[in-house]
Amino acid sequence: MQRLEAMAQTLTILGIESSCDDTAAAVLRQTGNGKAEILSSVVFGQTDLHASFGGVVPEIAARAHAEKLDLCIVDALQTADIRLDDLDAIAVTAGPGLIGGVLSGVMCAKGLAAATGLPLIGVNHLAGHALTPRLTDGIGFPYLMLLVSGGHCQFLLVLGPDEFSRLGGTIDDAPGEAFDKTARLLGLPQPGGPSVETEAQGGDAKRFAFPRPLLDRPDCNLSFSGLKTALMRQRDRLVAEQGGLTRQDRADLCAGFQQAVSDVLAVKSRRALAEYMACHPATPVIAVAGGVAANGRIRTALEEVAAEFGARFVAPPLSLCTDNAAMIAYAGLERFRAGERDGMDLSARPRWPLDRQSPSLLGSGKKGAKA
Ligand code: KG4
Ligand code: ZN
Repeated sequence: MQRLEAMAQTLTILGIESSCDDTAAAVLRQTGNGKAEILSSVVFGQTDLHASFGGVVPEIAARAHAEKLDLCIVDALQTADIRLDDLDAIAVTAGPGLIGGVLSGVMCAKGLAAATGLPLIGVNHLAGHALTPRLTDGIGFPYLMLLVSGGHCQFLLVLGPDEFSRLGGTIDDAPGEAFDKTARLLGLPQPGGPSVETEAQGGDAKRFAFPRPLLDRPDCNLSFSGLKTALMRQRDRLVAEQGGLTRQDRADLCAGFQQAVSDVLAVKSRRALAEYMACHPATPVIAVAGGVAANGRIRTALEEVAAEFGARFVAPPLSLCTDNAAMIAYAGLERFRAGERDGMDLSARPRWPLDRQSPSLLGSGKKGAKA
């Protein structure tokens, strides 16, 4: 009964995100089964706070989230012209991510829920990314999703709001992590993805030979850590030979690295799409999400793969590819409509794989299943 009512109702949801280095809040509204409308989406980045450390410092991130969350939420409510009383539920990222940041968000959401009596919904950050194409393009289930971000890289068969099956993923670094490390090795600013992409524009992708790891394996798994090591070797060789790097060296290294990432993602996407199409020929869709999906070269390569299969390629706008709270509000909305709620015992989960059946690809045993 509760589920049927929730299906027809107009729902207004507040989303809260704080799992990495973006403090975000958003308000989303959906009438019945209509298209969900983003009334506001506010993101307070922390890039400046971490810049001098060459990466995200978890303690600094957690403190900044705790300081900024309430301001961010007020901003999102005001921009949407919504009061707390107008909301139907509060959705918050409950993992996976940096534990301090996730805790800040979960505690804040619990406080709001306790004070207002509003239902609380814990959302998996990866589900937020994976469901974004439904928010932006209204696509139905099932579809194939390539999630490529700073912390994750996986091919997911998306069967329902809480039903995911992993076809493959990275066995070491995520592509965004490799972009960030590459930028660090070349003295470029963080986050590395956009800096490497900009630098690569004037570069010759063929000058340096970069490996294409795991392409000889017939599965959908990927590896990116060797690429960064190869780049470091080329950099060290040039520095030893010439005493430093020229602007052109840097551009060529970036272009070669980016091309290698793009080639690996394209080959493995072809495999994943073939596997997906064999089971779901009636819904030929490949969607992409996560920060690395902002990369123009990679997007084009994936678009070409989709075209080879006659499949629809869905890529959300850049602001919804990178971390944001609209995707958390949307994933919360789907759970809410399915009748799901969380209690005050909702806990922050630093590790929370979407596909609970497949064995972990990352550090299993030592750290437990990451994603
Ligand atoms: O999804 P996201 O905002 O955060 C999570 O990791 O969850 O992704 C951030 C990552 C960073 O590693 C960043 O360097 C990468 O996405 N990124 C890019 C580009 N823009 C952001 N990588 C390649 N090319 C880009 N244009
Ligand atoms: Zn993310």
